[in-house]
Amino acid sequence: MKNSSQVISLRKPDDWHVHLRDGAILKAIVPHTARVFGRAIVMPNLRPPITTIDSAREYRKRILQSVPDEIEFTPLMTAYLTDDLSPEVLEIGKEEGIFTAAKLYPANATTNSAEGVSDIRLIDNILETLQRLGLPLLIHGEVVDQDVDIFDREAVFIEKYLEPILNRYPELRVVLEHITTEDAVQFVESSSANLAATITPHHLHLNRNAMFDGGFRSDFYCLPVVKREKHRRALRKAATSGKSCFFLGTDSAPHTRSYKETSCGCAGIFNAAYAIQSYIEVFEQENAISKLENFCSVYGARFYKLPLNSDSITLIRQNTIVPNSFKFKSEDQSYQEIIPFHAGQTLSWSLKEGFEM
Ligand code: NCD
Ligand code: ZN
Repeated sequence: MKNSSQVISLRKPDDWHVHLRDGAILKAIVPHTARVFGRAIVMPNLRPPITTIDSAREYRKRILQSVPDEIEFTPLMTAYLTDDLSPEVLEIGKEEGIFTAAKLYPANATTNSAEGVSDIRLIDNILETLQRLGLPLLIHGEVVDQDVDIFDREAVFIEKYLEPILNRYPELRVVLEHITTEDAVQFVESSSANLAATITPHHLHLNRNAMFDGGFRSDFYCLPVVKREKHRRALRKAATSGKSCFFLGTDSAPHTRSYKETSCGCAGIFNAAYAIQSYIEVFEQENAISKLENFCSVYGARFYKLPLNSDSITLIRQNTIVPNSFKFKSEDQSYQEIIPFHAGQTLSWSLKEGFEM
C-alpha cells in the first residue's frame, strides 16, 4: 500500500459479506461491487434460498452476466443451511468449486431467513461435514427468542450457541458476520484463530441514536440493529486494530425505498457504492490508515485460504457527493429507488479508475 495525504493506493479489496439480490435489482447493483472489489462472498438469502448446487451455479451465472465487460470480478457462492440440507450438497458443492462457505441463519433472525435453521442442535451432521471439508461456517449471530431484547440478541447468541459450537468443533473455521457489540469484539479477540468477524461500514458510523435522529430513519435500520455508542467505539477500535481476526464485510443489503418506507420496513443498508470511501473515513478519523490494507485486502483472503488479489485500486483526496438515490427499472417496468448509505453526504475520497501514481 502506498499512501500520502492525497493518494491511497491499495491492493484490490474483497467484500466478505454482500447481498446481490436477483433480477433487475441484481443488474442494477452488481457494478457497484464489481468496480471496487475483486471477489465477494455472496449471501444466499434469495427467495427461494440457495440450497442446491444447481441453484448456486445458475445464480453465479446471473451475477457474472451483470458484471460490466471490462471488469474482472469473482462471486464466491455460499450455501444456505436449513434443518434438512444434506451434507452431500456441501461435499459435492465444494468439490465442484461452487461453494466457498455455508451460511447459518437462525430461522427468522433476519430478511429471508424463514427457512433457516430452527434448532442448531439439529445440524451436527452439517457442522461435522464443514469441519472435515475445511469449508467456513458464516453465522448470523443473533438469537430469535422473543423474550430476549433485540439489543442483546448478539451477546446472548455468543454465549448460548457460538461458544458451544466452537468447543465442539475446534477445527471448524467460523466467521461471526457483521458484529455489532463490544461483547462480540472481546469474544472474537480472545478466541482461537479459527474464529474471525466481519465489520460493516454502517456499524462503524452509526449508533442507535442516529437511527432515531429527529424521527425514525429507515435508511439506518439493519440487522443486527445498530447499538449504543460504546459498541460503535469498540467496533472502530477492532477494525483499525490491525488484528487479523477482523476484516471487511459490507453487508450491503439493498431494498427499494418502497419496501423500506412502509409500516413494517425491511432491514438492510445499501452501502456498496461508497463502501470503500466509508471505511477510509473511519480509518482516517482513527489515525489508522496504515491498517487499512490488511483489513480490506489481506486478512479476509488469508482466513478463507485464498490468494491475495494482485491488482490495486487508487483513491485520491477529492470530495465525492453521494447521490440521494439510485434509480433502476424493475421487472414491472416501474422505476424504483434505492437509497445509498451516506446519501446526500460529502465523503473526502474518490475512486480513481486507471490512475497511476
Ligand atoms: C440483510 C438482507 O436484507 O438480506 N439485512 C440486513 O439488515 N443486514 C440480511 C442480513 O444480513 O441480516
Ligand atoms: Zn447480510
